[in-house]
Amino acid sequence: MTTQTAALEIVALTPAFAAVAAALHQTGFEDCWDETAICDLLAVPGAFGLLAFVPKGRQFNRETVVDDRPLGFVLVQTVLDEAEINTIVVDAKARRHGVGNVLMQGVFARLQNQASTRLLLEVACDNAAAIALYGKLGFVEIGRRRGYYRRKEGPAMDALVMERV
Ligand SMILES: CC(C)(COP(=O)(O)OP(=O)(O)OC[C@H]1O[C@@H](n2cnc3c(N)ncnc32)[C@H](O)[C@@H]1OP(=O)(O)O)[C@@H](O)C(=O)NCCC(=O)NCCS
Repeated sequence: MTTQTAALEIVALTPAFAAVAAALHQTGFEDCWDETAICDLLAVPGAFGLLAFVPKGRQFNRETVVDDRPLGFVLVQTVLDEAEINTIVVDAKARRHGVGNVLMQGVFARLQNQASTRLLLEVACDNAAAIALYGKLGFVEIGRRRGYYRRKEGPAMDALVMERV
């Protein structure tokens, strides 16, 4: 699809953006995280987040953005030489424009500086969009947690454990 990444800026996700991040999370998850949950995760030693936004006045998806527009964020937990993607979400209205890819590239750049060696994540086995994104970025399945994601409706879904190789 179209890539609009030239319009994007990436900044550190700090607790000041927790409300913005909580609103974005709501667009992506049934079991979404509120401001407190996001602040708590950011407060864990070794955690960091990145926020993607389009600054006021720039064009994104053929529209001029009137106010700074947050589009997505990623939250990562590092422990020694391992890192795990805790969550990544892009505003439902802004998907397939390269935002998720840019956020992940930001994570790779940041981890390179920290000399982290392994990058892991978990994803529901029916989440085709996320699995496609991760596959494109070099992640492969290394394990599976049976029935890990319990939903309000429908059967529990396996989690794929993926590692970037
Ligand atoms: C997964 C998610 C973060 C992807 O963000 P995005 O900004 O739409 O992704 P990008 O536009 O950067 O896509 C990069 C590549 O990933 C793949 N991809 C992304 N969404 C896809 C979809 N719906 N179907 C197929 N492939 C997809 C494509 O290869 C795409 O490249 P292309 O557009 O050039 O074909 C987004 O769909 C989302 O927020 N989903 C809800 C929350 C979620 O499921 N998070 C992951 C939890 S583990």
